[in-house]
Amino acid sequence: MKSLTLLASAAVLSIGTLALADGHTDANPAVKARQSHMQLYSFNLGILGSMAQGKVDYDAAVAQNAADNLAAISSMDETNYWVEGTALDTTDGTKAQPAIWENMDDFLAKQDGIAEASAAMAAVAGTDLASLQGAMGDLGGTCSACHREYRAR
Ligand code: HEC
Repeated sequence: MKSLTLLASAAVLSIGTLALADGHTDANPAVKARQSHMQLYSFNLGILGSMAQGKVDYDAAVAQNAADNLAAISSMDETNYWVEGTALDTTDGTKAQPAIWENMDDFLAKQDGIAEASAAMAAVAGTDLASLQGAMGDLGGTCSACHREYRAR
């Protein structure tokens, strides 16, 4: 119990320190959260992409799982980790372009785009390989559409 309390106060302390810091900050928990979100996209999209390209055999259950995960992840509300003031011009360890915060409506529209494409993939991924392949272009396109404008190379 005591160690739990200690752990909790340590967490509060480190969040407080970050909030107070100005100028360049690093190890921002919001940056880590959104990059982790992206890693989950990448992992699940990779499974579908490998099947679409014939690098691994099509497996309906595995494909459906990956597509369902993408649909779930992309429907999350990401507002809390695209925090104003955490673009690459002020924060270390991020590739997020300041343009995100100048065009938040468009950025959110691109999030809606991936949610829609993921739902479309989830509707067919477990059917057969051809249907999965058919949904792949739209889905992959939503990643690059956002990265092109809002992620540094
Ligand atoms: C709405 C915009 C948007 C969409 C859609 C999007 N990304 Fe990203 N992605 C970003 C931004 C911005 C970053 C940079 C985040 C940072 O460094 O803080 C990023 C970073 C990443 C990273 C690097 C993560 C890390 O650990 O640094 C990967 C991998 C990635 N995205 C994969 C994907 C995949 C795969 C998809 C599609 C299934 C996707 N993204 C869709 C905006 C998006």
